[in-house]
Amino acid sequence: MQQISQRLADLVARGRDVVVLTGAGMSAESGVATFRGAGGLWENEPVERVATPEGFAHDPLRVWRFYEARRQQIAGVAPHAGHRALADYAARHPGIVTVTQNIDGLHQAAGVEEVIELHGSLMRVRCTRDGGAREDRRVPFPALPPRCDCGAMLRPDVVWFGEALPEAAFARAHDASRRAALFLVIGTSALVYPAAGLPAVASAAGAWVVEINPEPTPISDQVDEVLRGPAGAILPALLGAVPTPDR
Ligand code: OAD
Repeated sequence: MQQISQRLADLVARGRDVVVLTGAGMSAESGVATFRGAGGLWENEPVERVATPEGFAHDPLRVWRFYEARRQQIAGVAPHAGHRALADYAARHPGIVTVTQNIDGLHQAAGVEEVIELHGSLMRVRCTRDGGAREDRRVPFPALPPRCDCGAMLRPDVVWFGEALPEAAFARAHDASRRAALFLVIGTSALVYPAAGLPAVASAAGAWVVEINPEPTPISDQVDEVLRGPAGAILPALLGAVPTPDR
């Protein structure tokens, strides 16, 4: 890994008031496609057709086929060394707050007990009649679109474009960002708000903001430190190699 600043090394070793924000790039090395860039999900599927309430109202089967394919994909993937390094670090420093835009559950699969999911979860469904949401890990569903026990159609319990983020989850993420001493932004193109605004919230409150991404993003110039490279290599080097201070 490239040289890191003394400040980053100290903050990692201290392990207090650390917030981690992840995006699709965090899961790339597990074999989950990102959204943007070459081969990204939005290259083959128009966002407005499969990730908006209007798209779902127009053609729920198309939307469900898209999410069913993604459910099948994630049923066969596993966390990588970067997920494990984060989980291990969070276990050693219990106050760490993990915030993700990902809906694949890989942080939880790696052992992070509490994850703030800003965009919902692929393995949850919501009744279109009463809004009740619950976990549903059936892969594949017996029929598409899947139905609730009440007979109404189910929808994925994910956030689509044009929809509000889950209020309590975003409030917790925002609050943690305002209290952060170290804020790690990992594998996100930092284009989709309000999640993309959290690094600036942390920065304004005095956090040291570090981007981990092989490519530049719109916030690269605004963060305090950039570690260029894949999460699977950088996180074990950054978090694993730093000794935990005596407590
Ligand atoms: P994107 O697909 O927009 O961006 C993925 C980012 O990951 C890019 O900046 C890549 O350079 C980076 N990346 C790729 N491989 C990486 C690796 N091995 N390690 C670290 N970084 C890597 O994904 P998001 O930023 O998560 O929302 O997208 C944000 C939101 O837009 C998603 O949650 C989704 C999407 O549309 C909804 O569906 C509401």
